[in-house]
Amino acid sequence: MNDEAADLVIVPATESDHAVLFEIYRDVVAAGGAQPAGVKADREVFHEGWIRRRRVYVARVGDTTIGGYFLRTNFPAFAAHIAQGGYLVAESARRRGVGSRLLAHSLEQAARLGYTAMMFNLVQQGNPSRRLYERAGFKIIGTIPNVHGDEPGLIYWRSLESGSKAMVSAMPGE
Ligand SMILES: CC(C)(COP(=O)(O)OP(=O)(O)OC[C@H]1O[C@@H](n2cnc3c(N)ncnc32)[C@H](O)[C@@H]1OP(=O)(O)O)[C@@H](O)C(=O)NCCC(=O)NCCS
Repeated sequence: MNDEAADLVIVPATESDHAVLFEIYRDVVAAGGAQPAGVKADREVFHEGWIRRRRVYVARVGDTTIGGYFLRTNFPAFAAHIAQGGYLVAESARRRGVGSRLLAHSLEQAARLGYTAMMFNLVQQGNPSRRLYERAGFKIIGTIPNVHGDEPGLIYWRSLESGSKAMVSAMPGE
């Protein structure tokens, strides 16, 4: 863990954090990542995909917000015990353990809230988050064809029950 990750705090997002996350999200979409091609990176899409019916937390170093995550119920009403998360780190702050810290925090929050499993939906084959997920014990449980153009979207799953605490605390930066 480097100094930035050591000074980092993860806290519930404010309205102004939402605006920072939107900027990061827009950069990610412009670079071709994080969601199926052809989806607009406007505020409405961001609100629907990142804010609405979600708990949002951000990573801050001092007063600067450098990333965040959302946590929500993946299947509301019918399988409401399964959570889903999404993660964003500003490009200038990547590859220093911030994403790993956010993932670990989200798994702890999800377990604390009573979710028994966590999923990630429609992950792109080349997405850097895959390494984080796999290191935290997530497995690919399915693929959906033709999500990202001709490429499938990968579905990751992991239980939050027995052993999950040990896996979370074993993650770097914690
Ligand atoms: C995915 C993301 C959140 C990771 O954040 P991060 O702060 O870079 O993550 P970390 O620094 O904790 O990196 C964790 C691991 O992934 C690896 N990694 C990070 N970026 C990578 C990349 N572009 N290519 C390959 N591996 C990468 C790191 O090397 C590290 O592994 P290591 O510690 O074994 O070397 C960040 O890349 C991001 O915001 N991407 C755009 C949005 C996105 O795709 N989000 C996920 C889907 S919602």
